[in-house]
Amino acid sequence: MSRLDILHFPDSRLRRRCKPVGTVDDKVKRLIDDMFETMYEAPGIGLSAPQVNADARVVTIDVSKDRSAPLCLINPEILATDGEAETEEGCLSVPGVFELVKRPERVRVRALDRDGRSREIEAEGLLAVCIQHEMDHLDGQLFVDYLSRLKRERIRKKAEKAQRHA
Ligand code: NI
Repeated sequence: MSRLDILHFPDSRLRRRCKPVGTVDDKVKRLIDDMFETMYEAPGIGLSAPQVNADARVVTIDVSKDRSAPLCLINPEILATDGEAETEEGCLSVPGVFELVKRPERVRVRALDRDGRSREIEAEGLLAVCIQHEMDHLDGQLFVDYLSRLKRERIRKKAEKAQRHA
């Protein structure tokens, strides 16, 4: 396994719409393993393939405190949503920024797992937020897109300044 570089907002590569995975082969499995390692090292609770510059609809998640609940979603689709909740979100591609975002409170999702089997997952609370946040990445959407234009611009300027100094 190896740790991958994480792209940072406002990198335009984070805006691409990712391609579905055809077959869950060894290459995809290696990407998944590398994404888990990268996510745990960061540390973060979710990572999406475009954040490590991979064009594939793959997401890794673990919202547990002790890294005991790794969840990998391949080609995820939302089947149903319910309710509404506002949660403070952050993103490994937008370091240091935490803002409230409103999303459905519960989701039902269908996805392939690491073995290529189709699964349905019902989630609520933090897991539901994380699934939706990571799935947004697959379509080039970031959590800052839910904020006001003014706030997003401020975050962008701060990020660009930080990257110039890095
Ligand atoms: Ni993110």
